[in-house]
Amino acid sequence: MMDRIPALEAVHLTKAYDAVRAVDDLSFDVKEGEIFGLLGPNGAGKSTTVKIAITLLCPSAGRAMIFGVDVVEHADRVRQMIGYVPQERAIDRFLTGREHLQLLGALYHLSREEAERRIRELLKLLDLEHKADIPAKNYSGGMKRKLDLACGLIPNPKVLFMDEPTLGLDVQSRLRIWDYVRRLRERGITVVMTTNYLDEADQLCDRLAIIDGGRLKALGSPLELKAGLGGDSISVTVGPPEPSRIEALAEALRAVPVIRSVSPRPDGVDLRVDAPEKAVPAVLETATRLSCRVEFIEYHRPRLDDVFVAYTGHVFRDEFPKSESNE
Ligand SMILES: Nc1ncnc2c1ncn2[C@@H]1O[C@H](COP(=O)(O)OP(=O)(O)OP(=O)(O)O)[C@@H](O)[C@H]1O
Ligand SMILES: [Mg+2]
Repeated sequence: MMDRIPALEAVHLTKAYDAVRAVDDLSFDVKEGEIFGLLGPNGAGKSTTVKIAITLLCPSAGRAMIFGVDVVEHADRVRQMIGYVPQERAIDRFLTGREHLQLLGALYHLSREEAERRIRELLKLLDLEHKADIPAKNYSGGMKRKLDLACGLIPNPKVLFMDEPTLGLDVQSRLRIWDYVRRLRERGITVVMTTNYLDEADQLCDRLAIIDGGRLKALGSPLELKAGLGGDSISVTVGPPEPSRIEALAEALRAVPVIRSVSPRPDGVDLRVDAPEKAVPAVLETATRLSCRVEFIEYHRPRLDDVFVAYTGHVFRDEFPKSESNE
């Protein structure tokens, strides 16, 4: 039995700058035909990973292959297989949408007929036909992003890399782009995308690599990752929050069979449970028995942000960026 060659294979991939390891020993495979997400907060190393895969950056160590072809040794062959939609907008304000695509067609040495055919197809696919001949500076944000996508697709890639495809777009445009990415998958194109939107990773990606600080923290389908946490979450807030009382409650809850794990917080306890319909009454009963007043109880199915906390030990987004404090 032979495994298919991965669309992208990263093996101990590392990129070090003077002070930082932007990418630190990353190993993962992307299967042909899947939508694969690199999920992580700002500075996690997502763009750096993509730039190595598309031959824009050289790794400091490790290697990356596109369908078995090494991105450093055979950069030219790799470039024939990939498309790229950068994180920063690459389009020129004064050219029209059609002119952008024509320019790229020439860059990729498409014949005139082939270029015209693909441009027609892409403009239609992305619903940009009616705006094709006005300058891109008059496009809305969502339309500019679609034009970025069209540009990435001009070479007819086997693997399309998209860096934060929906960053800053409104909900409608995001949904339309998700739809479009799914259609690419139907056409057999492998999509490797980065995102720092948890819902995008959850709903769009077939599999995910969660990265943080340049390192791989978890790998799997959103469902697998969430199921791997083992159980649903219940968060109990007690008032007033006295440490001894919370400790006593945590201790008592550890003895309840349907409760799998108990983590005390300063103002309550977080629980992982098998059967919430049994666990919630048990929590309330235990709290009453210990004269512990429950102010708030929240239950939810595992979400990707729970997965992120579980694997990295911190929350996905730092509410107070350090750069803003004047130390
Ligand atoms: N040319 C460079 N020189 C030095 N450090 C760099 C360089 N490029 C990136 N870095 C650092 O590498 C780390 C990863 O950057 P990268 O752009 O890959 O993150 P990212 O996950 O794409 O973040 P974002 O969500 O903000 O786009 C960051 O700490 C960044 O400051
Ligand atoms: Mg980035």
